Amino acid sequence: MNNLSVPHLLGIRDLNLTDIETIFKTADAFKEVINRPIKKVPSLRDITLANVFFENSTRTRLSFELAAKRLSADVVNFTAANSSVKKGETLIDTVNNILAMKVDIVVLRHASPGAALFLSQHTSAKIINAGDGTHEHPTQALLDAYTIREKLGTLRGKKVAIIGDILHSRVALSNIYCLQKLGAEVMVCGPSTLIPKHIHHLNVKVSNNLREALLWCDVANMLRIQLERQEAEYFPSLRDYTLNFGLNQSMLNSLDKEIVLLHPGPINRGVEITSEVAESSNSLILNQVENGVAVRMAVIYLLASSIER
Ligand code: CP
Repeated sequence: MNNLSVPHLLGIRDLNLTDIETIFKTADAFKEVINRPIKKVPSLRDITLANVFFENSTRTRLSFELAAKRLSADVVNFTAANSSVKKGETLIDTVNNILAMKVDIVVLRHASPGAALFLSQHTSAKIINAGDGTHEHPTQALLDAYTIREKLGTLRGKKVAIIGDILHSRVALSNIYCLQKLGAEVMVCGPSTLIPKHIHHLNVKVSNNLREALLWCDVANMLRIQLERQEAEYFPSLRDYTLNFGLNQSMLNSLDKEIVLLHPGPINRGVEITSEVAESSNSLILNQVENGVAVRMAVIYLLASSIER
């Protein structure tokens, strides 16, 4: 069995290329498992995983739950909205109480950048970051890269444009780290107000023109406008944003080439992407969701292999 070079999955920045390749190789085996009539293996019957979510989620929470169950682990789900957090309990007390019930792995989603790192320094459990504010969302980047690799064979030399609200996106940062480690070139595209000021330090191309980005890329990853994280007005209106950065079929047709489309979800149909494009043959959006289970099985399995038992 291969181990990762890290004890927790806090961000893609901490992983090396061998870690990512090990996760993908392990995910390949689990993808075969989840397409069998009996979609389960008994590997982690002795492991308990807690999904601890302080922010809303559909895909990530369900995907981690299914991934753990497909490995035969026990799973408990915690959502802050209907918990004793509402009575003033802190993050560390909440998690230590969950751990006292003999939990081995905590999957944490939290609004604060660094929350997963903080937990890893103050608890004995394995921590998987399922999104920490505007910082990182490592399993999303892994499943995005895995989906591109499945479609195009390799990431090496491929051009990926990440389009939309880069400033507030943990998906963008994790994708930049992951794609570059795998040998892809990255461009970010959006209104200048939604591109971080110091993005050049990440060695990415920058464009404020959707057509230019689409003509450059092999893969476009369309991001949602994160209105819930915006404390100011970054563009005149959603209609204005859509006119300039929304992807529709006539724009795609005008490119005279095929590109692959990703979206991490949730989609705001008619804002950053039309329904027609989201459901077109170029779109790998549901492949991303399917691959998310296999990739998260791989991450849980590889981290669990270093738990003493
Ligand atoms: N892509 C993603 O993180 O989706 P959820 O917020 O629904 O988990």
